[in-house]
Amino acid sequence: MIFRNTVLGVSLVVSAVVGALPALAEEENPAIVYRDSLMHLIGLNFGPMFMMQDGKIPWDDARMAGYGKDLKALVGLNIMRGFPPGSDKGDTHAKPEIWSNLEDFTKKMEAMQMEAAKLGDIAQGSDRKAIGEQIGVTGKACASCHDDYKEKEEGE
Ligand code: HEC
Repeated sequence: MIFRNTVLGVSLVVSAVVGALPALAEEENPAIVYRDSLMHLIGLNFGPMFMMQDGKIPWDDARMAGYGKDLKALVGLNIMRGFPPGSDKGDTHAKPEIWSNLEDFTKKMEAMQMEAAKLGDIAQGSDRKAIGEQIGVTGKACASCHDDYKEKEEGE
């Protein structure tokens, strides 16, 4: 009887976990959660780098190097995994044009990943001019995609 109860207990636990998955899919598209989380993390590292370069917060070499290292790690992930076809519906700022121009979108993503990784490397040094220039180049790579493929947020 103990054995039977254990089996029953395990199957209840399994069905509770598996049962939760379709509910998540209905409310939140995992692809949208994935790309939105990743983009926010990229922004939370690039943002303070940009603000230091722009004089909005004091320049700190160690913090610049730390953000750069994390930015490089984040853009080393497979970002396109968050943009599967059919994920244009839901709580998202992604424009449907992404999937009708997927080749152009992918190229813009790769260009940004390359420039941001380069920025991560340059940020390890203390050449503020070179870091500042690469922040500018990277920021343009973000904007060139957002201009075409992302809905504006309020206040943007
Ligand atoms: C190739 C296209 C592309 C590039 C390059 C890109 N983004 Fe995005 N980004 C998007 C899309 C599309 C969204 C909206 C995702 C969603 O809501 O599903 C987004 C969302 C965001 C968000 C969340 C805010 C919002 O409106 O949803 C931040 C923050 C962000 N990006 C920062 C950056 C930064 C910083 C860079 C450059 C280092 C960058 N992005 C480069 C396409 C891009």
